[in-house]
Amino acid sequence: MNKVSVVVGTQWGDEGKGKIVDLLAQTADYVVRFHGGNNAGHTIVVNGKKYPLHLIPSGILHPNTKCVIANGVIIDLEVLVSEINMFVNDGVKVDGRLFISDRCHLILPYHKALDIALENARGKDKLGTTGRGIGPTYSDKVSYNGIRIYELVRWDLFVEKFTFQTEIKNEILKTFGVSEIKIKKELEKIAELRKEILPYVADTYQILKKAIDAKKNILLEGAHGVMLDIDFSPYPFSTGSNVIPGAVNTGAGIPLQKISHVIGIVKAYTSRVGGGPLPTEIFDKIANQIREVGHEYGTTTGRPRRVGWLDLEAVKFACEVSGVTEVTITKIDILSGLKKIKVCIGYELSPSVIARSKATKPALPAGRQSIKIPYSSCGYEELNKLTPVYKELPGWKEDITKVKSFKALPKNCQSYVKFIENFLGISVKLISTGPAREEYIKL
Ligand code: IMP
Repeated sequence: MNKVSVVVGTQWGDEGKGKIVDLLAQTADYVVRFHGGNNAGHTIVVNGKKYPLHLIPSGILHPNTKCVIANGVIIDLEVLVSEINMFVNDGVKVDGRLFISDRCHLILPYHKALDIALENARGKDKLGTTGRGIGPTYSDKVSYNGIRIYELVRWDLFVEKFTFQTEIKNEILKTFGVSEIKIKKELEKIAELRKEILPYVADTYQILKKAIDAKKNILLEGAHGVMLDIDFSPYPFSTGSNVIPGAVNTGAGIPLQKISHVIGIVKAYTSRVGGGPLPTEIFDKIANQIREVGHEYGTTTGRPRRVGWLDLEAVKFACEVSGVTEVTITKIDILSGLKKIKVCIGYELSPSVIARSKATKPALPAGRQSIKIPYSSCGYEELNKLTPVYKELPGWKEDITKVKSFKALPKNCQSYVKFIENFLGISVKLISTGPAREEYIKL
């Protein structure tokens, strides 16, 4: 039987997907990125050495695994070339193992400039994007202004389109008071990067189709998290792509019926970078402790991440909409030492906030000031104003990073895992207990 697995982050990204993909990649024939760009970032730790990755699929460190950057991914050439060189210089064979779709759209210098200019213009209402040009690149893609690797291969087409688009974008940048993009200088730079990319360009649809026909084991590496999905986040506090497994079809050309496993990654607490609602956010001593112990600083931007308690209302939605078939819990070791751990098990909202939406006419049950609202009914206004309903669970003191079986975990830690499993109604198959490859428990 085919094994086509999708790894999906069920929160706001940074769930620790990279390590899990790295683990699963040991037995995968192909690891595939299918959406997003270098706004994603994970760090893989192998033999004490850290590899920060933004574009190349995490499977690259397993010599028998092939890596595919499929058509849904948007590419910053400079970042991709520097990642390729990082591995080549470390003696990792990349040639013949990395394949990049010529349908991938390119993140070009004006996209990054526009991303930053738009953020600055928003002032206090900044979205907190990564500044990597993600939104402007995807918006050019859907407005037929994008430029792809397809044109990069056919250099004369690239020069023509790049010149035209840069001239237009320079006019827009001028209105923001931002210095213009120098076309000749950028073309010289891109021409150099192009030479390094060309050997990897391929028809990734055919590669993946043949792999599926040959019953190969394929691992699709989701980026970000469902709470940032362009449709299912509280827009515009979103990223530019669909994060849910539906994007496997559009972003890699793999029919959805071929997906056999959807692995939902649930970090034992919550974090987010950038602006936007975070219902279970905490600001106290515990927040600082979690941030420091959990190294909650952005892999891509270095920004300190906002942290909060585990939000199971949001995670349950993410699992449902993604069709998650099994759960992996990550970073549970970070909670060791906390006396009590809170978990959000639902949202409550005042009916006056709900009434702003004409579609819903909420009736308040007698004696109640607020009513339950599911994540799916919430936009940013509701998420900012609701009250999370918490369940408090007892913590544990012991360091659990070296524990190798579920039974050997402290009882309260076991109960925490069981609580998550029961709430979601999905089996927990793996618990990650530390950053290193070998620090995990299989259930
Ligand atoms: P963009 O994707 O750079 O446009 O940023 C939009 C929002 O998504 C910002 O709040 C980012 O911080 C967030 N974001 C995008 N990718 C990731 C990720 O991989 N992890 C965490 N946050 C992300």
